[in-house]
Amino acid sequence: MTDYDVIEYPAKPFLQCHSDRLAIMARLFGLTPHPPESARILEVGCGDGINLVAAAITMPKARFTGVDLSRAAILRGIKLVRELGLKNIRLQQRDFRTLTDRTQPFHYVVVHGLYSWVPPDVRDALLDTIKAVLAPNGIAFVSYNAYPGAYLRQMVREMAGIFAGSNIARAREWLQTACTLQTGAPLYRAVLADEATAMQGREDGALFHDDLATTNQPFWFRDFIAHAASHNFQYVSEADLATTGSFGLPGNDRIMLEQNSDFLTGRRFRQTLLCHADHAVLSQPDVGALKHCFAGGPLNPGTPQPDGSFEYVNGVGATLRTKNVEDRLILESLAAAWPCYLPANDFGPNAQERLLHLFAANMLDLRTVPPPVADKISRPNASPLARLQSLRGPSVTTLHHMEVVMNSSSLRTVLSLADGTRTPMQLIRHVQKLYPSEPKDKVTAAVNQHLEELRQYGLLQLPDSQHQQKSGGRINSRHRPYYFQKTNYTTLTKMMANV
Ligand SMILES: C[S@@+](CC[C@H](N)C(=O)[O-])C[C@H]1O[C@@H](n2cnc3c(N)ncnc32)[C@H](O)[C@@H]1O
Repeated sequence: MTDYDVIEYPAKPFLQCHSDRLAIMARLFGLTPHPPESARILEVGCGDGINLVAAAITMPKARFTGVDLSRAAILRGIKLVRELGLKNIRLQQRDFRTLTDRTQPFHYVVVHGLYSWVPPDVRDALLDTIKAVLAPNGIAFVSYNAYPGAYLRQMVREMAGIFAGSNIARAREWLQTACTLQTGAPLYRAVLADEATAMQGREDGALFHDDLATTNQPFWFRDFIAHAASHNFQYVSEADLATTGSFGLPGNDRIMLEQNSDFLTGRRFRQTLLCHADHAVLSQPDVGALKHCFAGGPLNPGTPQPDGSFEYVNGVGATLRTKNVEDRLILESLAAAWPCYLPANDFGPNAQERLLHLFAANMLDLRTVPPPVADKISRPNASPLARLQSLRGPSVTTLHHMEVVMNSSSLRTVLSLADGTRTPMQLIRHVQKLYPSEPKDKVTAAVNQHLEELRQYGLLQLPDSQHQQKSGGRINSRHRPYYFQKTNYTTLTKMMANV
């Protein structure tokens, strides 16, 4: 029995842990990773496995394995896998140190939220295990708390721990005082309030396991890389180009460039990709690697600014002002195409540089295979995972591998009913019967609006055959780049603010 059996940890799907993202980053830095859609993927410390389950739904030919010490978490995951009838995922309650089978190496190994939270001997064993089970062209993702930014969190979490031990209620009491402190120097008060407010915002499980944990060791990037090198790994990049500090900087010493970027930005968390030491990793991304990629993003059409530029805002909080015509062509096209992705080649050979720049600015996502989302609502068939989740609470996972919080119960009702067996008209009639006292035209309008919301969230699935066509690069001609199609994405942006 572990602490994770007693207090549930709120595990989530993370786009930056998705094997397709790992493949994109590896390709950009000159490697030849295994195609994600047919890869073997391992997550160590997977909790209830939601990050793997969400990917397993959209990549039926990939094979997923998740291991975690917590019996309760794994049992929750296994129940979900059974309910979904998934055959390509295996969740096991076991210590990762017992993973010794080298006959079926993994092309991708993901370890999120573990390295900083275990003692030195287990960290060492973790890198040993990854070394043993990672395929020759494999990519490993390891996240950890990073200095210098983590010093601030460390200061506050240590004080909360001294005051409250592992008592969540007492810790929250102390954090509340810290949020509104009237004593001490203004700078100290500001730092304390900022960190304490962030901790108060965490769910109980995250506060307990992340902040009140007895082991929570941040690292200087240089020291993490030295540890990785001692196990014959080398640095590839971060899981996001936007957080790869050496991107675009001149100089050969990538490790020092990355380290210095942490000094100058106050970085507090890293999500580092590693590969075996015997590969040649590029120091800067190769735009040629974008040739067969797909780009997408929940963008609004640009709004004109007084200086002649256009401002673009995306659903995950990034903003860009640009006058560059190529940038605008890409962003307007992606805004119109969302929730679908477009082939990078459609923007022409010279646009790859701009796509890379927009990816680094967090304005778009890149994939080797586009997510299997539908752009039409003819017979709405929502992700079976999201349909199940909608019966349990507001948090659902999109086919883009993102978490969305749906507070509207009527939206969740429509989601749970959108199982591919009904046309929109049949769905409307069904909901009208559920709410006989509501005016019929009001129900009709609400269901139509909710279906559109589900479409824009990327929750409606493509039929299998269409997905194969899209991965082959044949995208509906109405999604070819064009300028200034006006589409109303206001609802999407409002909803995505909850992501
Ligand atoms: C903070 S949680 C992270 C869960 C998930 N990866 C996420 O980021 O949402 C850490 C997980 O690692 C698991 N864990 C810790 N030590 C482990 C070990 N030796 N073998 C397998 N799992 C372990 C814990 O049970 C827990 O579920």
